Amino acid sequence: MSTILVTGGAGFIGSHTCLVLLEAGHDLVVIDNLCNSSEESLRRVEGLSDKSFVFEKIDLLDQPALEQVFVTHSIDAVIHFAGLKAVGESVEDPLWYWRNNVAGTLNLVDAMNRADVRDLVFSSSSTVYGMPEELPVTEAHPLGPVSPYGKTKLAVEDLLRDVAASKPGWRVALLRYFNPVGAHPSGEIGEDPTGIPNNLMPFVMQVAVGRRERVAVFGSDYDTPDGTGIRDYIHVMDLAEGHLAAVERLERFEGCEAVNLGTGQGYSVLDVVRAASGAAGREIPYELVPRRPGDVAAVWSDPGLAKAKLGWQALRGLDEMCRDSWHFQSRNPHGFAKT
Ligand code: NAD
Ligand code: UD1
Repeated sequence: MSTILVTGGAGFIGSHTCLVLLEAGHDLVVIDNLCNSSEESLRRVEGLSDKSFVFEKIDLLDQPALEQVFVTHSIDAVIHFAGLKAVGESVEDPLWYWRNNVAGTLNLVDAMNRADVRDLVFSSSSTVYGMPEELPVTEAHPLGPVSPYGKTKLAVEDLLRDVAASKPGWRVALLRYFNPVGAHPSGEIGEDPTGIPNNLMPFVMQVAVGRRERVAVFGSDYDTPDGTGIRDYIHVMDLAEGHLAAVERLERFEGCEAVNLGTGQGYSVLDVVRAASGAAGREIPYELVPRRPGDVAAVWSDPGLAKAKLGWQALRGLDEMCRDSWHFQSRNPHGFAKT
């Protein structure tokens, strides 16, 4: 068992991964500046796991504080979630995104290097592929992100490829997530976006719980069976287990390598609205509106490499994703610390 530093551990994917890591017997040091999360998620992780861990409120841009973490604790590996992730926000304020996501990671890798810690799992995104040229998307697909957010993810991937190639010993897994949704089945932790959700599932859930009137379905004239966009939604617990598999199998990574985390199965926007209506036991109203600029018709992953390399595959389907999202939303209609 090892001691794992989790950056951004209070966030959506981080909190679920912390729980899975604790349950697998790992010790954790969690850092987060709480810019998009609440410490309440970590308290709930402690409650669910019946285990405690170190939490320090640290910003990745605070280099001395970051260095100190590696002095105070004997860290074996790092899982790096901390980052900003809203596409629209990144278009409005690219400097903020580049500073936070890229300079923040530079500080982290610097601190790891100094402390001789060379095992890293990084949260990348399927957004690095840009417009899909072929489906399903394999790791060999050309890279070409469109948004500043996506470009920061690719820049960090490039940084890590360079660092890993510079000297032996680095073992870096770049995990490219498709569309994470769902929540822990307890309904205790889940996704709690601030403001109006950009992503489909949290929006659908806020309509289901009565916080918003109806879902705007962006585009119904795509070249897909029902005309709406198709994505590879993946349950956050599958994703969390994918991180456990990656951090425990870093010996299979020489240098730096990218792996898709998806199900390989695409669902349309209307499939999601229907499944969510079933989970919530009520019809979720929607209206068809024009396409959202920048969206693609369909994208889903080839999850084959993850299975071969990590011995991991997603197990949970769309109904389970909606059931667990609804469970969290209905128990926490206004999210963490606001109930
Ligand atoms: P999230 O916003 O819930 O979690 C990110 C966490 O990082 C938050 O708790 C935030 O407070 C923290 N953070 C941000 N900047 C920080 C900084 N400078 N210092 C310390 N902490 C900082 O997001 P999430 O959905 O859990 O995503 C986690 C990671 O996965 C992100 O890097 C994101 O880009 C990536 N990702 C997410 C998705 C998705 O759809 N959720 C898809 C692909 C990739
Ligand atoms: C978006 C980001 C992507 C990021 C991903 C996960 C864009 C262009 N892309 O991807 O970079 O990695 O989130 O965080 O923002 N939809 C609606 N109504 C809504 C919201 C969404 O119909 O209110 C549709 C979209 O058109 C799309 C699908 O639902 O077809 C999924 O959308 P979303 O959850 O935002 O994810 P992506 O667009 O795949």
